[in-house]
Formats: sequence, C-alpha cells, structure tokens
Amino acid sequence: MIKAITGTKDILPSEIAKWYYLETIVKEIFSKFNYKEIRTPIFENTSLFARGIGEATDIVSKEMYTFLDRSGESLTLRPELTASVVRAFIEHSLEKKQSLNKIFYIGPMFRQERPQAGRFRQFHQFGAEALGSSDPLLDAEMIIMAFDILNKLGLKNLEVKINSLGVPTEREEYKKILRDYLKQFLSKLSDESKKRLETNVLRIFDSKDERDIEIMKNAPLLIDHLQKESIEHFEIVKSVLTKAEVPFIVEPSLVRGLDYYTHTTFEIVSKSVGSQSALCGGGRYNGLIKELGGSDLPGVGFAAGMERILLACENENSFSLPEEKIDLYIITLDKTKYEISFDLSLKLRRKGITVELDYLSRSVKAQMREANKLNADYVLFVGGEELARNEVVLKNMKTSEQEIISLNEFDLLIKKLGD
Ligand code: HAM
Repeated sequence: MIKAITGTKDILPSEIAKWYYLETIVKEIFSKFNYKEIRTPIFENTSLFARGIGEATDIVSKEMYTFLDRSGESLTLRPELTASVVRAFIEHSLEKKQSLNKIFYIGPMFRQERPQAGRFRQFHQFGAEALGSSDPLLDAEMIIMAFDILNKLGLKNLEVKINSLGVPTEREEYKKILRDYLKQFLSKLSDESKKRLETNVLRIFDSKDERDIEIMKNAPLLIDHLQKESIEHFEIVKSVLTKAEVPFIVEPSLVRGLDYYTHTTFEIVSKSVGSQSALCGGGRYNGLIKELGGSDLPGVGFAAGMERILLACENENSFSLPEEKIDLYIITLDKTKYEISFDLSLKLRRKGITVELDYLSRSVKAQMREANKLNADYVLFVGGEELARNEVVLKNMKTSEQEIISLNEFDLLIKKLGD
C-alpha cells in the first residue's frame, strides 16, 4: 500500500471544519488591519531561499526540499514565505503602486526536519508582511495581530517573547564580543557549537546541549550592546505592546533561525503543547529587500504554524464548533423514483438548501439511519401514493410532525426548510 510521505499529513473531511474556523479568524483579523492576501508559487529558484534566509541557517543547509527540474534548474519547495513575498514585491514593483504594502498569506510550507508532535515536513503557515516602513508601530502591530488571533481562538497558556537584534553593524560588533567570550570555553563547547562559532555564532543560544547551555548563561547579550536608535525603536515597540495589553517578556537570547532579522524579533510560545512550543515567530528585516535585488526598503512580518495552533487549541479545548447538520435528507421510497428525488434535491440546493439523498439504493430504514447520522433537520419522503398525487411528505426531525406538501407548492417547501 502506498502511504503518505513521512512527516506529511492528510487533513480529512472530518477535520476540515476546524481549519475553516482558524482560516476565517485569521482572514477576519488581517482584514481589520487592512492586510491583503498574496498567493505565490509553491516552488521557487533555490537561490531565493539561500540568499534570503541565509546559507548557514539550518533551513537552508539541512532542511530544504531542493531538486533539479528536467532542464537542470535548481528549484526548492518553499520552506517559508517571507523570501517569496519579497521576491514578488520586487518583481511587480509593488512599492510604486503603494508606499506601504501590507500583505498576508496562508498555505503549505516544506522543511525536511525530523518529524515529531507539532513538527512536520509539510506544514501550514499563516503570516503577514508589511513592506516599506520602518515604523516600530508595525513591529508591534505584527505581535498584536498574532496575539489577537490566538486569543480569539480561546488560547490561554501563551507567552510572548520579544528581543531586539539591532542593526547589522551592532550585530557584527557584538558577534566579535561573543566569539571572544566563547573562545575561553572552546574545548567545552559541543561540536555543533564549535562549527557555529564561525558560521552562525548567535545560534549557539539555541543549542540544546547541556554544556553549551551552561556556558551561554553568562554570555554577553546583544541587547546590552545596542546603540541609541535601536534602543529607542525597541522602547516604542514595548510601550505600544503594553498599551495594547499584550503581556510580553524580553528574552535577550531569542535569536531566531533565519538570518534576515534586524531590530525586533518575537515568538509566541504555548505551554499547552510539547517541545515544539513556538506557535509563531517573526520580526523586522530591514536589509532583505535590498539583499534580494530590490530597493533599500524595510520590512517586518511574522508567520504562525497552523498544525501547532490547532494542537494547542485541542489540548486546551479552547473552542467548540457547532454540531454539523444538513437541512434536508430525501428518502426515496421507490427505487424507480431516484431521478425525481435527485431533481428535487437539485432545485432545493440551487435555492441554498443543504440537501442529501441516497445514492446506494438503500432500504428506507437505512436511509432514515443516514438522515439521523447527518443530523438532518427534515426528511422528505418521495414515492408511494403521495407521489402518485404529485405530493411529498415532509417530516420535522425534532418534533416528528409530518405534513403533506404538493410539489406544485415548491415555494412553500423552500420556506419551510429555510425557517
Ligand atoms: P519560523 O519561525 O521558521 O519563521 O516559522 C514560523 C512558525 O511556523 C513556527 O513558529 C512554527 O509554529 C511553524 N513551523 C515551522 N517549522 C515547522 C514544522 N516543521 N512543522 C510545523 N510547524 C512549523 C518563519 O517562517 C518566518 N518566515 C517568519 C517571518 C515572517 N518573519 C518575518 N516575516
């Protein structure tokens, strides 16, 4: 039997309602903040992600689904969407149409990570990007939107962590200080961190190795090496969040796994899921548009993992959906009358009524069972003497009341079903 690829998951019809619910809330909140949806291709040129996300990141160096197409071009299934949005922004000169572009997206992403609870190889993100302004209000807006979405889903056990990574010059200066500090402990560092010392020293903060963790406890922090402008930017973000009643903690070791960040970075974690607790993450990326060949324009954004969010919702039982039901189930009494039932169902469906009928030539009893299973408000019996008189019998499943309706009074039927 051929099975789905490890780390990928079918979203079955029985699960789709919660996805629709999540997507509706996401779209509702993004539209209140005036973000417009973008849909970009699932695959892009590999160089877009290599340059955008950074060669030394885990995503680019270990996790991308990269392949050569039949003409020998290197393509990659998108591991995230910020680089793609920036590519589209540059390609379509969106800054000429609007000086600030507020964009959102929902869709599948691909990373070849080790699958575990809350970590998949194909997963879904929703996210937003604001391109063209360096206003710290937008940094705060991203965090507020993410927080509001999670709140609206009823999630409670949340922790908003924020940090500032300053500007590249500050970061380069700080990296030297951090390297000098770490060199004292060179022999004690894990092999992975020894490698990172030169390639991506900030990520040593993310090491899970006990020895590294111990060493990093006393490491100098970037946040203590920021200049006036970066500090001011971060202060505004913090004060706006406080006014917006978003509780947050400053986490100076929050460096994030993508290279493009400048100034604010953030993550919202949930205490209701296992180790893969980051429900969303993002931050400002003032150099990325230029890096990918566009103008020197700033940007800020975030993305959230939808599987993880739904897992947290399930663990907290944070929302319940209305019971699924249909308006009408048509029970065909006589096997020769299926076409009449189908014709009737079609007319009603085209008037906006949710109708199901039997396609399996089942017994009346089995059809009745199906009507109950589908939670039908009404059933309609088609056949027998009534149909010979051009009539049908409508039964209200709650009250068990039955009435005969003439098929000449089609409008009456619609009215009853619509009530
Ligand atoms: P990220 O932190 O790599 O950021 O991913 C954002 C969220 O996607 C994570 O917090 C997590 O919930 C979810 N996620 C990531 N990998 C997986 C996985 N393998 N399985 C399930 N969920 C996963 C970004 O992607 C940036 N593009 C965010 C951003 C937008 N920054 C600025 N703009």
